[in-house]
This record gives sequence, structure tokens and C-alpha cells, in this order.
Amino acid sequence: MADLGVEFCDLHFKNPIIVSSIEATNSLDRLKLCIDNGAAGAIVKTLTDMPAMATLTKHSKYAILDETGEIIKGKVPRNFVFYSRSGFSSTLYEGWEKDLKAAQVYADRNNAHIIASVGASSLESWATISMMAEDCGVPIVELNLGCPHTSHMSGAKTGVRIGQVPELAAEVVGRVTAAVKIPVLVKLTPEAANLTDVAASAKKAGAAAVTVNSRFTGFAVDIETGTPRIGGPAAVGGPWIKYVTLRWVHDIYSSLGLPIAGSNGIFDWRDAISFIMSGARIMQVGSVLMLKGYDWVRQMIQDIDAFLDEHGYGSVEEIYGMASRNAVSSYDEQVGMGGIHAVINDEKCTRCWNCVGCCFYNALSRGEDKVIQNIDNCIGCELCFNVCPFEAVSFASKK
Ligand SMILES: Cc1cc2nc3c(=O)[nH]c(=O)nc-3n(C[C@H](O)[C@H](O)[C@H](O)COP(=O)(O)O)c2cc1C
Repeated sequence: MADLGVEFCDLHFKNPIIVSSIEATNSLDRLKLCIDNGAAGAIVKTLTDMPAMATLTKHSKYAILDETGEIIKGKVPRNFVFYSRSGFSSTLYEGWEKDLKAAQVYADRNNAHIIASVGASSLESWATISMMAEDCGVPIVELNLGCPHTSHMSGAKTGVRIGQVPELAAEVVGRVTAAVKIPVLVKLTPEAANLTDVAASAKKAGAAAVTVNSRFTGFAVDIETGTPRIGGPAAVGGPWIKYVTLRWVHDIYSSLGLPIAGSNGIFDWRDAISFIMSGARIMQVGSVLMLKGYDWVRQMIQDIDAFLDEHGYGSVEEIYGMASRNAVSSYDEQVGMGGIHAVINDEKCTRCWNCVGCCFYNALSRGEDKVIQNIDNCIGCELCFNVCPFEAVSFASKK
């Protein structure tokens, strides 16, 4: 068995999976369920002083779509689309004090950690709620600068409205880091022009780590009725968004070296491994648990362990950031790399002509009984390799 432990924000986590701030963490009982199912931690649904954002959650709506845009009707596809509208914790922050303390005690007993997410209405409230969490014994506070719903909620000048502007983000982070001693984790929005700039601002203002990242706002249409799903714009995410999130994990890991919690697009162990290899220290799992149940966490942890064992890795630490360190730093560097050309294996080739149809460089053409190659024209783009069902395409170095 590999060592699954990770260090994050001065704490040891027994494995790299925690539950993100979401409906699955919206009460003491639900936080306990996360821990009972093996999560190394759980982030409380965002604590707030904003009644409108608590009310919004009591009117939550969800449309879970398949790749065609239809409601899944029970069968959860790997690339589901989670289109939804909900707010922050349905209980305002003052009402959480007792349960937050109890959750922390429960987590301590089970070698896990509770993280308090905060989303407030004013600079002072950001500090007040964070201090309340610290007083309850919570070891990390996460500032929710990513909530997409706040841009559609009148009077909710928080979440994405702050996270999109590096200076505003720094102001909030600075106020909170001046008020608490515990590490401050900053949840970024993918709707900022450049997440690395916001992360750099947050780091300068004292953030210990960043969560990369919250979800986008989308617009989903029911084409049968000509109406938007669940009434209008809403937050959108799902496993299909993973590659966009990983780009920012890679960028922030490579340029700032700031510890990262990965969120947005994790379905199973494969995604978690991709996040770790890109530079995330810990993985936040959210919407998949609302569809698959809490015990999905245990399965993910077992599967991560199996992957590490099968590949001869002794620990999560061993693969941390590996893909980011292996990445070429720019397109210029890629262009300068040695050339290759495709080689078609005539014995494996079945003359389906997929490769010919996809060759936009006139390197492959249709012969009478085989693919004709023009090596001089081949730029080694690898598209033919992607579309060949028979593994008949390999590559050789260009002389
Ligand atoms: C229904 C729903 C409610 C959410 N509520 C919160 C919240 O209160 N606070 C927060 O920081 N993020 C919230 N999120 C965002 C998640 O924590 C997470 O960042 C996002 O869903 C992406 O991760 P995933 O792909 O694992 O779902 C919510 C997401 C969903 C789907």
C-alpha cells in the first residue's frame, strides 16, 4: 500500500481527498458522513451573514444533463453536466457555532479536518466569520471568491464579483489574514481573466494556498420548450471541465509554487491523479457525490491506492506536480523539438481510409490497395494516429 498522506496548509491529511463546500456538507450530520466515508476532510457549505444567499439555497434547482443536453433520468454518465442554482449555507453563520465545534471534535477523533468556507457581505464580515470559525477550532478557512451565483443575485456583492478583480481579492484576503492565525485558503473563480494573477495577489496578501477553482456561469436550453433550464443562467460544471481547470492548476503550480487544492471536474480516481500530477496537493470532490453518494469517496481512495501500487509509486508525493514539470514551457519550445513522420503498417491497415480523410498536409493519399505516404509532406501532427482504429500508425524520426 502506497503512502496516501499529503501535507497541506501545515496539516497532515491522511489521503488526498476532501469534500468541497456543497450541499453534501450543509449540516453536522452531512459533515460526519463525509468523514465516515473516508474523506480526509470536508469543507462546510459557505458560512455567510447574507440572508439572501441562505434563502437561495432553500430554493435550489438542479438540472443534470447528459452530453446531448437532456436530463439524465437516473443514469449518471461520466461526463455529466451539473447545471444548478443554489446559495450559501442555509443556516446563517451565527447558527453554526455549536455544530462547527462538534464537527471539528468529530474530525479530530477520526484523523480528519474540517475547513470553514466563508462568503460575506462586507470586509468586516469576512473577518468576523473567519474569526468565529477559528474560535470553533477549525484549522483552515477557505474564502469563497468563486461563487458564480452572486453575479445574478441582487445585493450579493461577493463571490465571483470579488474573485474577478485581483485588487479586491487582495483586500479581502489581507483583512482576513490580519484577523486570524489559521491558514487562509482562497477559492478562485475561473471567470477571472487570469487566475494566476489573482492567485499572486492573494499570495501577496497572505494566502497560504488557493483552491483552483469554482464553477462557471452557463445557460442551458430545453429545445423542446424553447425555455432555459431551471429558469435562466446558472452555475455549470461537471467532469468535462477538468481540462480547463487543470490548465490553471498547472499554471499556478509552475509559476507561483503556491499549494493548490484542486476542484472542478473530478469524477473518479483518474481525474484525481491528473490533478495531483498537474500540481494539486489535495483534491476537493463535490457534485459527483450528490449523484453517486458519499461512499464514492472510499472507492476513489482505494482506486488511487491501486493506481500507485500498479505503477510502482510509493506515495502520492512521488507523483505530485510530475506532469507539470514534464511540460514544455512554450509553443516555441515545442516547435523547436525534433520532427517525426507517420509510418503506416500495411499489414495492420484495413484500408478504412480514416487517416487519409484527416490528413490536411497531403502526406497520406488513397492508393489502389494501400495508403500512399508522402513523408516530405508529413509534419508529424499525429491526427492520423488518433483516428486509426487498428493501431496501424506509428512514428519515426525525420532525417
Ligand atoms: C449544488 C452546488 C452547490 C455548491 N455550493 C457551494 C458553496 O456553498 N460554496 C462553495 O465554495 N462552493 C460551492 N459549490 C462549488 C463546489 O464546491 C465545487 O467547487 C464545484 O462543484 C466544482 O467541483 P466538482 O466538479 O467536484 O463538483 C457548489 C457546487 C454545487 C454543484
